[in-house]
Amino acid sequence: MKKVLQLSLFSLVCIILLINCGTKQETGSTEPEETEKIQPKFTIGMSQCNLGEPWRVQMNLDIKNEAEKHPEIRVTYKDAQNDSLKQRSQIEEYVNAGVDLIIVSPKEAAPLTPPVAAAYEKDIPVIVLDRRVLGDKYACFIGADNKKIGKAAGQWIVEQLGGKGQIVELKGLMTSTPGQDRHSGFREGIKGSDLDIIFEADMKWLEPEARKEMESALARFKNIDLVYAHNDPGAHGAYLAAKATSREEDTIFVGIDALPHEGQVYVRQGVLQASFEYPTGGKEAIQTALKILNGENVPKEITLRSRVFTKENVNQGGKWLDEEGEE
Ligand code: FRU
Repeated sequence: MKKVLQLSLFSLVCIILLINCGTKQETGSTEPEETEKIQPKFTIGMSQCNLGEPWRVQMNLDIKNEAEKHPEIRVTYKDAQNDSLKQRSQIEEYVNAGVDLIIVSPKEAAPLTPPVAAAYEKDIPVIVLDRRVLGDKYACFIGADNKKIGKAAGQWIVEQLGGKGQIVELKGLMTSTPGQDRHSGFREGIKGSDLDIIFEADMKWLEPEARKEMESALARFKNIDLVYAHNDPGAHGAYLAAKATSREEDTIFVGIDALPHEGQVYVRQGVLQASFEYPTGGKEAIQTALKILNGENVPKEITLRSRVFTKENVNQGGKWLDEEGEE
């Protein structure tokens, strides 16, 4: 009796499974979207230098959100995990795969220049996003003006400190162009003031590195009036180091990026006194890619605007740098 019951239960399960399979196949083949779906006409390969930082995750998301509006393109993504050699191979792989266009946000300028130029010479348009390569063998560069941002940060800091004070500068990777420009722009902005740069170090854009460098600065200097970090993770790392020795109240922290869910939150919390916006350019990259793929001319350089966020303006959407009379 028990055996009969078990057998009929088994057959019941089989019948249900069979019915399910049947319906699945049916709906699979008759789904209206399947037949109406527009097939992508163009393939875009995107090489991101790393996905370990919120700003880079946001860039990919901005690309994805814009690309989704255009069914004629398909974007594939590669993460170089902060390794320039890996990123070089990724660009070569995209070329070999015969993509129609490449978007690259390079880790470092020099090592990424040859593969970008090689792609360009094979008539594959390359959009360089945020960090530059050397020379001009690419279709278009898109990014904010890092010199201008650095200069505006310098001028803002001079004003905040009444022209004098002891400063720590935590620099972004100095083999990448935003690090170089945020440094030189800043030095230009503080020119003529009595600000004293008592400590500077390359924290390579990384929060843990910035924290470590700030620990050294704190150990060496009793008085640090302000930390200028080339990005918000760097400024936050410095803040955490100061907080660990209960010295966070003695210092002003300034960063760059101003993501709504990162830098702007730090400003609201009073962790950072200012953050300068560095837009990702993801949306603009797709818009420009479409123009190139459709045979339109695009400018060689697209410069994105930037805002400064402080506690006075963070809830009103910040203040545009070009409204401050900057060139
Ligand atoms: C992320 C990041 C940002 C910075 C940008 C500069 O990798 O470090 O924080 O603004 O790169 O290229």
